[in-house]
Amino acid sequence: MTMRGFELLDLKENNTIALQKRRGDVKRKVFDAKAFREANRITLDVTYMLEAPGPGSIAMEKVEALIPEVLKAHEMLKRGKGDIYDRGTLMTGWQNLPVDITREHLRDIQTVAKKMSEEVDVFVSLGIGGSYLGIEATFRALTHTYFNQLTRTERGGAPEIYFLGQNMDPDFFRDTLDMLRGKKVGINVISKSGTTTETAIAFRILRKMMEENFGADADHLILVTTDKEKGALRTLAGETGYRTFVVPDDVGGRFSVLTDVGLVGLAMAHIDIEEFVAGFQAMREISSGNNFWKNPALVHAAMRHAAWSAGKKIEVVAANSKSLYWVARWMEQLFPESEGHEGHGMWVSPSLYSEKLHANGQMVQQGERNIMETFLALKKHDNRIPIPQTDNNLDGLDFLVNRGMDMNHVNQMVVEGPAYAHYQGGVPNMTIEIPKRSAFNLGQLYYMMEKSVSISGYLLGHNPFVQPGVEAYKRAMFALVGKPGFEQEAQQMENQLKGMKRIRI
Ligand code: PA5
Repeated sequence: MTMRGFELLDLKENNTIALQKRRGDVKRKVFDAKAFREANRITLDVTYMLEAPGPGSIAMEKVEALIPEVLKAHEMLKRGKGDIYDRGTLMTGWQNLPVDITREHLRDIQTVAKKMSEEVDVFVSLGIGGSYLGIEATFRALTHTYFNQLTRTERGGAPEIYFLGQNMDPDFFRDTLDMLRGKKVGINVISKSGTTTETAIAFRILRKMMEENFGADADHLILVTTDKEKGALRTLAGETGYRTFVVPDDVGGRFSVLTDVGLVGLAMAHIDIEEFVAGFQAMREISSGNNFWKNPALVHAAMRHAAWSAGKKIEVVAANSKSLYWVARWMEQLFPESEGHEGHGMWVSPSLYSEKLHANGQMVQQGERNIMETFLALKKHDNRIPIPQTDNNLDGLDFLVNRGMDMNHVNQMVVEGPAYAHYQGGVPNMTIEIPKRSAFNLGQLYYMMEKSVSISGYLLGHNPFVQPGVEAYKRAMFALVGKPGFEQEAQQMENQLKGMKRIRI
């Protein structure tokens, strides 16, 4: 007897796919409508941040005492004052991007993306850190988990999307290349400096393969996103005629998802970049005022700072959705790369719940009390999964069915249950509620986090827009591989290592 294939009995069409197919249909003006904004507003619940039992509890007075400092920092940020420059450039360009970005520019990106998307089977985005994470985070947050395995129609006409250049793992690289075999490929190499090793090596390999495969056609299948006038990529683009996009001088990598850095890749995935901008714009308005308790970015910054001052050194950022887990990974870069100076800062640990509740959840509940927690709670998932009745109720879960509860309902409790239990266990926690998976909501969240981490820089007393510490690993790596110009470092390293007893078991 031949068994028939597995059917998704009783389930409707996957709504993530339906949304992918419909993307771009929404009438633009709706983003400004009051009702739309109200229904799609992300909220911050800080109830469990205060007075958690046990050591390191945060008293309301501590937060209130911070308010004048936070408001002063906010004013300085808006006026471009303080330690917020990188080599002479004021690094607050991200603040006004949502209003500075023009409809024409968005259309231009959409036109290039549409043309390339129609021409290629696969699009590869090359970059690392701020030139990578925002794109993959947003892409994962809004698309089907197995995007590349869907048909082109199910992807809403978009090509397959891959990411390279964010690590030097040859097996991962090779596995990704296998996915490109026999297909027409387009790439976007993103690097503000133009010389970041991981991205540059990935680009060398891809570019050579594209030239060998596609000959002269390769040139129009390569997009370059880099500094507007200087750097290796800008020079190369000048020589080859590659289509270029710009990373603005006054926007640092981890703040750049709303620049060409993020927008080109997102447009290639057919994500609505106008809606994305509208989300940033909405939070820009919400977080511009000086009424502390009405400004979620300021409250978020103050709460995290109060927690850090009370001895919380780890921030578990827990998502109840695989899609938002990637946003937690974006936060893992934004906060530590901005705050980790002079012995300061919190380690951000992205987590997917329930999964992690059965692993380091034990540590959160009963380990060292140096942890705070931020939930990214998706309120409305794209799809609804009902739970079926059984004949014998062996697992004791029929009551859920009898009470009309589905998987979606249980997943809300995956935030509410741990939030209460961890609070009782002495872990202050807050919840960012995200109404649904949409470009608008992500835009709001990103802007709020960018503002919060900027305020955090003032509170900690150092520049959040530079990352001098990242250079140390680069120098050591260059010394080890013998890069010309790093001879002195190589010698120093050799001498130091000679004097160290190697312990290898
Ligand atoms: O946030 C940052 O500034 C960094 O993470 C950079 O984005 C990252 O190092 C990549 O730099 P580049 O764009 O110069 O290749």
